[in-house]
Amino acid sequence: MPSPPANLARAEAQITKYPEGREASAVIALLWRAQEQEGWLSRPAIEHVADMLGMARIRALEVATFYFMFHLQPVGSIANIQICGTTSCMICGAEDLIGVCREKIAPNPHELSADGKFSWEEVECLGACANAPMAQIGKDYYEDLTAARLAEIIDELAAGKVPVPGPQNGRYASEPKAGLTALKDFESGRTRYNASVALATELGDTIRRIDGTEVPLITPWRDKGANHAPAAFRAPDPDAVPDPAPAPEPQAGAAPAPAPEPAPESGGQDAGAGSRPPALEAAREGGADDLKQIRGVGPKLEKLLNSMGFFHFDQIAAWTEAEVAWVDQNLKGFKGRVSRDDWVTQARVLATGGATDFSERVKKGDVY
Ligand code: FES
Repeated sequence: MPSPPANLARAEAQITKYPEGREASAVIALLWRAQEQEGWLSRPAIEHVADMLGMARIRALEVATFYFMFHLQPVGSIANIQICGTTSCMICGAEDLIGVCREKIAPNPHELSADGKFSWEEVECLGACANAPMAQIGKDYYEDLTAARLAEIIDELAAGKVPVPGPQNGRYASEPKAGLTALKDFESGRTRYNASVALATELGDTIRRIDGTEVPLITPWRDKGANHAPAAFRAPDPDAVPDPAPAPEPQAGAAPAPAPEPAPESGGQDAGAGSRPPALEAAREGGADDLKQIRGVGPKLEKLLNSMGFFHFDQIAAWTEAEVAWVDQNLKGFKGRVSRDDWVTQARVLATGGATDFSERVKKGDVY
C-alpha cells in the first residue's frame, strides 16, 4: 500500500495544475490515483477525494459513475481483463475471448473469480482495431489474441508471470498479417519489440498496483511561484499552532460564544494567528443566511462555520484582518479559504442585500 504522505504529495502536485478556485478539476486525477491502489473505488475513497478538493461528494460520485474506467466494485486482485467487443474485434473473435473469460474467470462480467484473482468485462473499442481481437490487461494491450492464447495468458498471470504485451501472433506491430509488402528495409533494422511493447516491458508495471514508490509528479511550474494548492494540502507550517478542538454544539439563545483557549506553543506563549471574531450560539431569529452564496463556501464549510458560531453575512462582513487570520487558521481541513476567496468582500455585498455573480448563480440553482 502506498504511504499516505506519498499520495498526499501527489494529490497536491496534481491540484497545482489547475487555476486557483478550480481545484475540483483535479477530481479525475485523484480518483484515478485512488483506484490505482486497489483496482477499484470504494465509496469512502470517492468521498475522501471530494473532501480533499472541497467539492460536494455527490459531484465526485457523479464523475466516478459517469466514466466506466472507474470500477465501483472490487476487481480481481491480479487483474481485471477488459475485452474489446466492438466491430473489428467482434468480427475477429471477441466472442470467443469472452467465452474464455466466462469459463476461466466468472460467468458474468464484473464478477470476481472464485479465488478473487481475476474479473473481466467487455469494453468498447480501445483503438487497436488493426490488431483485433484484443484485450487490455492492467495498463497494457494484448493484441491479435486467440481464445487459446488468452487462456494461456490468464494462467501465466495466475502463476505470477506477466506475459509480454502487444501482438500475440508474431506480428511486430500492425503490419499486414502476411508480412510487409513495402518498406521492407525496415524489417532488418527494427528492434526486438515495437516501441509500445518495449516501453511496457521496460516499465514492468502492466498489472502492478501502486505502492508509494512511484516517481513523484514533476511540477516545474511550482518553482515559478505557481503553487496554488488548497491550503489544506500545503506543507505544514512549523510555526503553526495545532488545530483547536471542535467548537461545542451551539445552545439556544444568541449570546456570544466564548472563544476557545488558544493552543500554547512550546514556549508557553499564545501563538494563535489573529483573534477570534465574535460568534453566536445560534442563528438569529429568522434563521441563518445561506452562506453558500459566498464563493468558496460549500455545504461542508457552511456547516463548519455554523458550528463555530458564524451564521450571518454581516458577521463575516465585519471580520477584521486579525479575525480573518484566526478563522483561516481554524477552518479545519479548509485552512486559508477566507482570504483565498475573499469572503469578507463578498459578505459585505450580501449583508447589505446586494448580490454577486456567484450568489446569483447559487440562487438560480446553477451551483451545487
Ligand atoms: S474494435 Fe476492438 S480495438 Fe477497435
